[in-house]
Amino acid sequence: MRIIEKLPEMQAAARDYQRRQVDLGLVPTMGALHDGHLSLVKRCRTENTITVMSLFVNPAQFMPGEDYDSYPRTWSQDLELAEAAGVDIVFHPSAEDMYLPRRQTTIQVHELTKYLCGISRGQGHFIGVTTVVAKLFNLVSPRRAYFGQKDAQQAVVIQRMVIDLNFPVEIVVCPIIREADGLAMSSRNRNLSPALRPRALALREGLVLGRDMLRQGETDANTLFNHMCEQILRDDAIEVDYLHIVSPETLQDVEKVDDLVLMAGAIRIDGVRLIDNILVGPDGPWED
Ligand code: PAF
Repeated sequence: MRIIEKLPEMQAAARDYQRRQVDLGLVPTMGALHDGHLSLVKRCRTENTITVMSLFVNPAQFMPGEDYDSYPRTWSQDLELAEAAGVDIVFHPSAEDMYLPRRQTTIQVHELTKYLCGISRGQGHFIGVTTVVAKLFNLVSPRRAYFGQKDAQQAVVIQRMVIDLNFPVEIVVCPIIREADGLAMSSRNRNLSPALRPRALALREGLVLGRDMLRQGETDANTLFNHMCEQILRDDAIEVDYLHIVSPETLQDVEKVDDLVLMAGAIRIDGVRLIDNILVGPDGPWED
């Protein structure tokens, strides 16, 4: 496995693969790898000849007061996991190289970032995400890039950016990978104390309740919302950041569930912010 830290070296390697018409897939990550990331690598390897994983804790997507400093960093373990998973190149740039002091350019997807995490974290979070992902696309020139459905809004926003700016990259969104008890895998799960870890399931339980009520025929979004909220807030260790039932395309709230919806939420527990979602419709799918 090759480790590349310098931007020109990454671009030269990418150009070389492009010249030889070798398909290159990118798995962008902020490290602290878990099975969710490894499932993206697995999919990437089946569809591309070369798999590049970027490991970069992107300061631009953390808003003031957020957990940039405490975001888990497990560099040597990440390298072992990446190598064992069959990653060909780890791209690990420094923040100084990625963000020059005189930079003046960002990328903003305007509408889709107004909702969900855009309300609680601010649209600046997504400006940080789209800007770094655009930079990674320009540095790595992937044919395909792999993102997790856990960050459903991120995936929709990046898809919009790719269409609007004509990036020649196919966005592949892969299913959420869960712990045995159903908790969505997240790098931030490492920051949960063992005592509070089981209670982090509250959001998942609220989402599952919404799904089950829908399955039993309840399609009024407000009724679903009220029951889901009540379920989550049964545990006084939980603060609900947001909970919404939205169109998976526009991310705007729906009043009635007559088509596929995204039930998405964010909670805080033990000082850790966790997100999760379920994509579900009045006639299923129910499997999640
Ligand atoms: O999902 C993430 O880990 C990050 O938002 C990403 C896409 C790697 C950009 O920093």
